[in-house]
Parts: sequence; C-alpha cells; structure tokens
Amino acid sequence: MIPSNPENSLLVDRFGRQVTYVRLSVTDRCDLRCVYCMSEEMTFVPREQLLTLEEMARLGKTFVELGVHKIRITGGEPLVRRNILHLFRELGQLDGLHDLTLTTNGTQLARYAQELKDAGVTRINISLDTLKAERFQQLTRLGDINKVFAGIDAALAAGFQRIKLNAVILKHRNDDEVLDLVEFAHQRGMDITFIEEMPLGVIDSHDRAEAYYSSTEILHALQQHMALAEVADNTGGPSRYFGRAGSDYRVGFISPHSHNFCDTCNRVRVTAEGRLLLCLGQEHSVDLREVLRANPDDDVKVREALLQSMSIKPQGHEFDVNAAQPVIFRHMSATGG
Ligand code: GTP
Ligand code: 5AD
Ligand code: SF4
Repeated sequence: MIPSNPENSLLVDRFGRQVTYVRLSVTDRCDLRCVYCMSEEMTFVPREQLLTLEEMARLGKTFVELGVHKIRITGGEPLVRRNILHLFRELGQLDGLHDLTLTTNGTQLARYAQELKDAGVTRINISLDTLKAERFQQLTRLGDINKVFAGIDAALAAGFQRIKLNAVILKHRNDDEVLDLVEFAHQRGMDITFIEEMPLGVIDSHDRAEAYYSSTEILHALQQHMALAEVADNTGGPSRYFGRAGSDYRVGFISPHSHNFCDTCNRVRVTAEGRLLLCLGQEHSVDLREVLRANPDDDVKVREALLQSMSIKPQGHEFDVNAAQPVIFRHMSATGG
C-alpha cells in the first residue's frame, strides 16, 4: 500500500516516531581529512562493495513510496563519487520527495552547483570551520580554502536559498572564530550551525574530551555581540535554532552532548555499502545491499525490509565524550553524518 499523503509515513518505530527523512551516504571517501572526522591513514571501502548509483536510486524510490519526503545526500564527500549527478537527477524526479538536499565540503561546488540546482536539489549545507587559509589547511590536513570560498559563491550564484554552513568548533583550535563565522554567513545570506564534536571513530590528532567546546559557550560568546532568540519551530532535526535580531538568518546548534534530541528523531541513514543504520550513535542495522541484490526486480522485498527495520530503531544514542574509547567505531565519513 502506498500512502496518498506522503506526510503520513508508514515507517513508524516502536516509540511512535515517524521516519520521513533519510540520509544517504554515497561514498566514504573524501578529498579532505578533517582532524575530528578521520585519522591520517584511512582504509576506505573497496568500490565493488558500494551500492551502485542505480541501487541507491531504487532505495530512494522505495523510501519515498513509504512516506519519506526528505533525502539528504552525504558522505564522505558526495561530489567525489563518479557520475553522482546521475543519482541527483533520478531522485530529483520522484513525486513525493519534497526536499532533496546535499551536505558537502564545498571543494567541488564551483563545478557542480548549477547542475545540482538543475537536477532538483533544493538545499545545500556546506562545512566550513574557519575563515583562515592556514588554519583550514591544518584542520583538513589537505585543503585549500579558496576552493570552498569559490564553491560557496557558485552555490549562491546558482540561486540556492537558505544555504547552511556547518562549523565544528574545537577548543583552542577555532573557538576564537565563532563571531567571524556568523558574520561571514549572515552577510552572504546564509544560516550557520555550530556542531559539537561527536566521538565517532578513532582519530589520532587530538583528545576529544580536551577539545570539547560546548554550544552554551558559543551562544554566550555570540550574545556579547548580537541579540539571539530561540526560534520555536523545530524541524525534527537535531539543530536548535536562534533568530538574530535585525536579520533574516539564523544560528543553529547541534549539541548531542549537552542537549539530547532523540525523542523527536525522524531519520535513518544508509551507508555507502547499503547498511541501513537506525541511529547515528548505535550499531543497530539492516543489510539492504543483500536485499537489493537478492531481489533485483522486486521492490516489495525491499519495502518489507524497510518496514521491518522499524522494530529495531533504538530509543537514542549513548555518546560519551569522556569515554576512553569511542562507543562507535565508525567514522562520521562512513556513517553519512
Ligand atoms: P537538516 O537536514 O537541514 O536538518 O540538516 P542537518 O543539520 O541535520 O544535516 P547536516 O548534514 O548538515 O549535518 C550536520 C551535523 O548534524 C552533522 O554533524 C550530523 O552528523 C549531525 N546530525 C544530523 N542528524 C543527526 C542525528 O540524528 N543525531 C546526531 N547526534 N547528529 C546528527
Ligand atoms: N563530530 C561532529 N561533526 C562531525 N563532522 C564530521 N565528523 C564529525 C564529528 N566526529 C561534521 C562535518 C560536516 C558534518 C556533516 O559533519 O564537519 O559539517
Ligand atoms: Fe571530509 Fe567532511 Fe570528513 Fe572533513 S568532515 S574529512 S570534509 S567527510
């Protein structure tokens, strides 16, 4: 049965939460090596183990038939996957998909922004943790900040509305830039969200507990310079948003440590290998690649697997920034953020 009202998802878990949002990772690879995301040496998934773009499109279609109305393409860095525009074009044609969004590091946007817009992408989130070239190079180990600036300009020129910058703030590394980042975003007509580092995967550059910088500290620092008032509308996502007096643009906070938002979780994730993860901070999963490949012409089986997965969606994550070892050994890049 396909619901006539796509808001009314058939994907409902044991706690009554409706899943309407899927984060689909298309690759675990990236052209950067952000220190909080990856260790210097990473082993990536062999290409033959990845879902093909056709398989991803099939999955996307099935999710939408079940009532999902938002798909965010993530990675790794989605735009390093060969032929990725093909997937955006396929998903962009799905009736019932209201929001087709992308999370990117921005390095390739100068090349892709217009084609993404033409394919039906509705919104883009761009990661940017600093405005300083040298610091960017240190934080990303490889990166040229000018490529990201060019990417942001291209996304704005292509007419994307409500572009959002994402900044992970680490104590003593970039906490002195929170105000400059907000001004940079708002002057260009973009929102910005600050993210607390999450303990996903083993990293080698710093101690996560020492680098922890809370959203509350950022909020207090910003409030010395601007009036910020919490906005009531919570989109079901993890961000708490604040409106800035005299501006149309917002500041958001993703604070998995200081603010748990699992009660209203509306999302699941699919890794690039086709593993359906029911929670970012838990290991409960279903192997969708196996289901897709065992039933190449039968989406009913895929639909059944998705419906059944709802019975194992956990109540919430158990992040602990002080744990000696991460609870979750997957890196963010393997999870899809
Ligand atoms: P929207 O789709 O606009 O809500 O964007 P978003 O902020 O959820 O997505 P984005 O890809 O920009 O992710 C920003 C950060 O939020 C990343 O670090 C994600 O890992 C984190 N995030 C997204 N969803 C969840 C979640 O369900 N739980 C936790 N703990 N973090 C999440
Ligand atoms: N903790 C918090 N955010 C992270 N990101 C990557 N790894 C981590 C982590 N361990 C962020 C990126 C990007 C977003 C998708 O996730 O900076 O903005
Ligand atoms: Fe790449 Fe994003 Fe991870 Fe940075 S945070 S290494 S840009 S996937």
